[in-house]
Amino acid sequence: MKLLKEKVLNEGIVLSDQVLKVDSFLNHQMDPVLMKAVGREFVRRFEGEDINRVLTIESSGIAPGIMTALELEAPLIFARKQKSLTLRDDIFVEKVYSFTKQESNEITVAKKFMKPGDRVLIIDDFLANGEAAFGLARIVEQAGAEVVGIGIVIEKAFQPGGRLLQEQGYRVESLVRIASLENGQVTFADEEDG
Ligand code: G4P
Ligand code: NA
Ligand code: NA
Repeated sequence: MKLLKEKVLNEGIVLSDQVLKVDSFLNHQMDPVLMKAVGREFVRRFEGEDINRVLTIESSGIAPGIMTALELEAPLIFARKQKSLTLRDDIFVEKVYSFTKQESNEITVAKKFMKPGDRVLIIDDFLANGEAAFGLARIVEQAGAEVVGIGIVIEKAFQPGGRLLQEQGYRVESLVRIASLENGQVTFADEEDG
């Protein structure tokens, strides 16, 4: 997606070989015009698929998630993160470990918002190791619902998440794929996906 690549190149800050900071349009300040285009692009990529729910995780997945949901005219559910949880029977819970932050969170979705037969598009801002996406997919499956696909704004293709998800049979659509952040430079995985 050309607009997004330009934004990454112009405003992204390479913090290390592993981490790209995008707090001017995605992770702190948010660009609504770009997010609207992101939502449209996800819907275009999953055109022809029957989708009745969008699922993301707080907090940075919510902006691309809501714009996708708006375009689909379907509800957005954002999984909540919690440190530790007392047992409850009205929520689905999955454990998600973040290698980037070296911490575990329980992510939760209320059972009333996800039912058998639902067809769910998962959206997230970043894909690194895939832990968050796998956790969201396990919640969909706990509910007896189906994962139609996974839409990612920025995939770090040098980390294994995208490959691992596809090996498990999930369709992954990433709007930009970054091959490398080495030498303080963003290199995209394929220059023609604009
Ligand atoms: P994974 O789910 O793919 O395994 O990724 P990981 O655990 O490594 O990601 C943990 C958090 O760090 C996530 O945000 C994710 O979006 C974010 N993240 C991962 N790599 C990058 C990166 O290169 N740049 C930026 N800006 N963020 C990255 P989170 O903890 O869920 O926080 P939130 O911002 O959604 O609240
Ligand atoms: Na995220
Ligand atoms: Na994030």
